[in-house]
Amino acid sequence: MDDRFNTIAGWTLFGGIVALGLSSLSAHYFLADKEHRPEQMGYAIEGVEEEGGAAAADLPLPNLLAAGDVKAGEAIFAKCKACHTAEQGGANGIGPNLYGVVGEAAAAGRGGYAFSDALKAKGGNWDFANLDAWLKNPKAYADGTKMSFAGLPKAQDRANVILYLNSLGTNLPLPAPVAAPAAGAAPAAVAVVGDAAKGEATFAKCKACHTIDQGGANGIGPNLWAVAGEKVAGDRGGYAFSDALKAKGGVWDDATLDAWLLGPAKFAAGTKMTFAGLPDAQQRADVIAYLNTKK
Ligand code: HEC
Ligand code: HEC
Repeated sequence: MDDRFNTIAGWTLFGGIVALGLSSLSAHYFLADKEHRPEQMGYAIEGVEEEGGAAAADLPLPNLLAAGDVKAGEAIFAKCKACHTAEQGGANGIGPNLYGVVGEAAAAGRGGYAFSDALKAKGGNWDFANLDAWLKNPKAYADGTKMSFAGLPKAQDRANVILYLNSLGTNLPLPAPVAAPAAGAAPAAVAVVGDAAKGEATFAKCKACHTIDQGGANGIGPNLWAVAGEKVAGDRGGYAFSDALKAKGGVWDDATLDAWLLGPAKFAAGTKMTFAGLPDAQQRADVIAYLNTKK
């Protein structure tokens, strides 16, 4: 049992080392000067800020550090162990021992480790920002470095490893997180980006009562051509709106449509629109994006 476990562990370790070697080799030959990212980061809508995955990756480093996790960083450090020890007094290997490296002068001391001229020339201290840039892409940071490691493309991974390094005999105070929305950013209410094509599919639910093409007939509900931006319960070819919706007033901007589609009866108690609503915020955003194309 033990033997078999050791054999499996041995091969797993060996596999890991081979994979690491291959990834750093291939990184060396194919990715050395390229940004390791897809050409296009998802799908953008004109005039709308990107949200979700891409934006999360671009959070400022102080925020990523604040949200980070030392344990997760320790797990990622497994990738570094092929070349680095981390414990106090650990031996230098292919790379230097890293105990207490955060805040220290770069390429200095480390028990006489022979640093490359490239990293020595770079100088500076290993503060959080420099570590982040280094771990993102060592070769971009110090062209000619001996650290043949492709880098950690995920910003949160880097922040986690930095927190782990900081826990090793340094514990520098973390920088304060940056307040989230920069001046001039989209209002917080526009939290979800809609997809008009998906919205058209969801609109199938509305078709029981609504037409949407220009000049389409009123049915149980009014024709919805160019409803986005129009007056609530305005003139829809003489459609007889409920007093409840007429009393509401205002215009169908995105936020108003969102509240309406979340719960028509809640938005205008007594409305004739006997539709439960769309509880899913993404579906509402999609439908609203679709309504905005129909004008
Ligand atoms: C393939 C081997 C290898 C891997 C994997 C590797 N490193 Fe390195 N690292 C090195 C070498 C070699 C150097 C010395 C670089 C030089 O002198 O140009 C170094 C230098 C460093 C330094 C600078 C130390 C100082 O005192 O200036 C830091 C910090 C560092 N590595 C962190 C990491 C972290 C964190 C990881 C994992 C995410 C990692 N390294 C993965 C080989 C590696
Ligand atoms: C069961 C029928 C029914 C369904 C299904 C339905 N509606 Fe309605 N809708 C109505 C009725 C009836 C009204 C008029 C409400 C009133 O006067 O109180 C209305 C009104 C509206 C209005 C206001 C129009 C204006 O000019 O003020 C919008 C916008 C709207 N619906 C969008 C939708 C969307 C989008 C869906 C699908 C997600 C949907 N509706 C599903 C029946 C329906």
